[in-house]
Amino acid sequence: MDIENFGSPLKVFLRLHNSHSELINHDEQILLGYKPLVIGIIAAHSSSRYKYLDVRSNVNLDFKDEMNKSVAALELKKFEKVENESVCLFLFEGMHGDHSFQSAIYFIMNNMKYRLTANRKGNVYLKSNLYQQVIISYSVPRVISLVSLSDGKLSNLFPTDLNGNFGKENYIVSLRIGGNAAKQVEEIKKILIVGMPADSCSYVYSLSKNHMHDLADENNFRFKSKRSVNFDFPVPENAVSYSELELINSIETGMHSLYFLKIIHTESFKQNSSKLAHIHRIYAEWRKKKSVHSDFYIR
Ligand SMILES: Cc1cc2nc3c(=O)[nH]c(=O)nc-3n(C[C@H](O)[C@H](O)[C@H](O)COP(=O)(O)O)c2cc1C
Repeated sequence: MDIENFGSPLKVFLRLHNSHSELINHDEQILLGYKPLVIGIIAAHSSSRYKYLDVRSNVNLDFKDEMNKSVAALELKKFEKVENESVCLFLFEGMHGDHSFQSAIYFIMNNMKYRLTANRKGNVYLKSNLYQQVIISYSVPRVISLVSLSDGKLSNLFPTDLNGNFGKENYIVSLRIGGNAAKQVEEIKKILIVGMPADSCSYVYSLSKNHMHDLADENNFRFKSKRSVNFDFPVPENAVSYSELELINSIETGMHSLYFLKIIHTESFKQNSSKLAHIHRIYAEWRKKKSVHSDFYIR
């Protein structure tokens, strides 16, 4: 789906004391892992949100519809705080999630189906409530970008939806520990993060296997002739924008490594403002049932 044309998104609120709550913009809560569920919440230094999060170990997020009714909630536990010059990233692990996207009977049937099908070889199996936490996390659109990297001769190109801006100067990308993608980022220490339009979804999804592939000749990928200005990395065809990022450091959380990168240069190609993102199938079905207008491709 195109995040730029996605109507009636759920709003995410941080539950504060005395039944007050604070709206968290979509780019201020970043999904960074799903085993365990990892969510980063951004807070400006000395903001009231910063002061609140700094002294809490557990917080709650409410996902509210247009009528301001809470349709899902996540309970999170803080495990890390990372600061840069402008903002702080509080890292939380998912403890529990509840949602009302399905009736009780569909909830039970879907869980049974998931248990029977998701444990196939190679798939990440999300046990009990963790699966519900992941559904809730994908009830707000998660932007899918491409990572392009090159060692000067050979390249790789793979999708990422676990990433986001960390203030104006930094960026975070989360990659599965042990994958080739993570190894390549650690070795080359430079990447392009590339915004893609919604109609490129089939090509972008087809690149998911490259997380496990070695670097390959550039002819294996659909790159345009244009290259990035400083790194001279190949830019994918149909790219909407790209940023050149340099690796600073990383931390491990569960099955993912979080890579902290410095933004070196950003370029946008103005002719196309569409941006690819995705939501969970169960939330998409809930929208359909509620007749919330939605334009999306179904995988
Ligand atoms: C749209 C999309 C986004 C993805 N984003 C990430 C990501 O941010 N981090 C990551 O480690 N893997 C990411 N992956 C890769 C998958 O988690 C998985 O490793 C990949 O699909 C290969 O799995 P398979 O060997 O079971 O096919 C993404 C895959 C797709 C299709």
